[in-house]
Amino acid sequence: MTRPGELGDVLISEAEIRAMIRRIADEISNDYAGREVLLVGVLKGAFMFMADLVRELKVASQVDFMAVSSYGKETKSSGVVRILKDLDEDITGRHVIIVEDIIDSGLTWSKLRELLLTRGPASLALCAAFDKPSRRKVANLKVDYTGLEIPDAFIVGYGLDYQGFYRDLPDVRTLRLEAEN
Ligand code: IMP
Ligand code: MG
Repeated sequence: MTRPGELGDVLISEAEIRAMIRRIADEISNDYAGREVLLVGVLKGAFMFMADLVRELKVASQVDFMAVSSYGKETKSSGVVRILKDLDEDITGRHVIIVEDIIDSGLTWSKLRELLLTRGPASLALCAAFDKPSRRKVANLKVDYTGLEIPDAFIVGYGLDYQGFYRDLPDVRTLRLEAEN
């Protein structure tokens, strides 16, 4: 069985990812010095980023995970966010940092943000490994901690998938989809 799509060149190397993680971890460690943070990883895409990030943080942290569905098997956001797995933790009064793989249209995050704010966290921040600002559909969306900005291309690797494949790649590559050939 071959994997779907045609894998392109390395867009972001492992070394670049490592440097990005250290920079973000330093920023978070400074901003939250003396406080405890609850990192909420959005499954499945954020699992690798979350594992790397948490090991570089200097502040006390706890982790939890959520799974949401916004894409199905498509490559574009539908704008409808379904909660597939909710948090185990009560976030009331806690400093919550959502950890996302990538922000694209911003629709997933804006819906998730609305929901989590109803639960009364002390603070709520967004941290994303990658960001495609040129694709934004939501105005004034603030990404508090951005790893690397990337151009408008479909990328895979380092947790990001296409039809469930390629999450295992240690670097980030572009993927040409069959339909575009
Ligand atoms: P948004 O709602 O458009 O911001 O969608 C964000 C979600 O779409 C991310 O959490 C990813 O799961 C997925 N996504 C967006 N762009 C890509 C990509 O280039 N490769 C893989 N997944 C992506
Ligand atoms: Mg995702």
